Amino acid sequence: MLTINQVSLTFNEATPDEKKALQGINLSLDKGDFVTIIGSNGAGKSTLMNVISGSLIPDVGDVLIDEKNVTMVPEFKRSKLIGRVFQDPMAGTAPSMTIEENLAMAYARNKKRKLRLGVNKKRRELFREYLNTLHLGLEDRLTAKVGLLSGGERQALSLLMATFTEPNILLLDEHTAALDPSRAELITQLTGEIVENFHLTTLMVTHNMQQALDLGNRLIMMDKGQIILDVAGKEKQALTIEKLLKEFHRIRGTQMDNDRAILG
Ligand SMILES: Nc1ncnc2c1ncn2[C@@H]1O[C@H](COP(=O)(O)OP(=O)(O)O)[C@@H](O)[C@H]1O
Ligand SMILES: [Mg+2]
Repeated sequence: MLTINQVSLTFNEATPDEKKALQGINLSLDKGDFVTIIGSNGAGKSTLMNVISGSLIPDVGDVLIDEKNVTMVPEFKRSKLIGRVFQDPMAGTAPSMTIEENLAMAYARNKKRKLRLGVNKKRRELFREYLNTLHLGLEDRLTAKVGLLSGGERQALSLLMATFTEPNILLLDEHTAALDPSRAELITQLTGEIVENFHLTTLMVTHNMQQALDLGNRLIMMDKGQIILDVAGKEKQALTIEKLLKEFHRIRGTQMDNDRAILG
């Protein structure tokens, strides 16, 4: 479903600010894989997401989605294949538009159904059904402006908008990090349900190690632009935060800089 071949990317090459953000990344995801990604600040996690979405083009290497080489395909053309939720709840939705208008916009992007923009009775029913799965009562607020929603509600809506068109790949970049713990927990739970319902191939960056352990069938640890640990299946199920920290120490010879890594 997704293949990343020998991808490297350096910012500000040959200047004093040179930063090797990605160094020879290889990664292959099967359909339905749910990969969680952890790693210290500046490890290259968001850069990897940006290379997959097409908002950055790697210096070296290729990105393949469904066996098609999309390395040079511009972001707007890739957007049909990719659903994305960012850390900022404001980033994924249009505040001055209503809930149903936001959903209609996301729906119109759908490659499979070629729908026109707009809301009709049938579509409104469908939106209600989708919103109902969030258990936030948003199905009764279809004509409310999204700007009036709380951060958690907006992030739940962003998640729905990124997923209900069943994209080939779902990218989540610390999408619960800006929320208070109870809302973050809710969005985490919804993420698990939605990914399972739609069988989405997913990459989720999180600084919350417990979340990375709880969700998904595979876990990747990044450091200094490299993938230093890649664990799947039963081996992942057997992981603990303590084991992860030990693994990091074994591989890198230093303690993990876990200032931002929420351990519990
Ligand atoms: N647009 C940019 N210009 C210059 N340097 C950048 C840019 N984006 C990211 N970087 C640098 O690249 C490295 C990786 O960044 P990033 O992928 O955002 O890390 P992470 O998401 O793992 O915290 C960091 O050192 C960061 O400062
Ligand atoms: Mg980041």
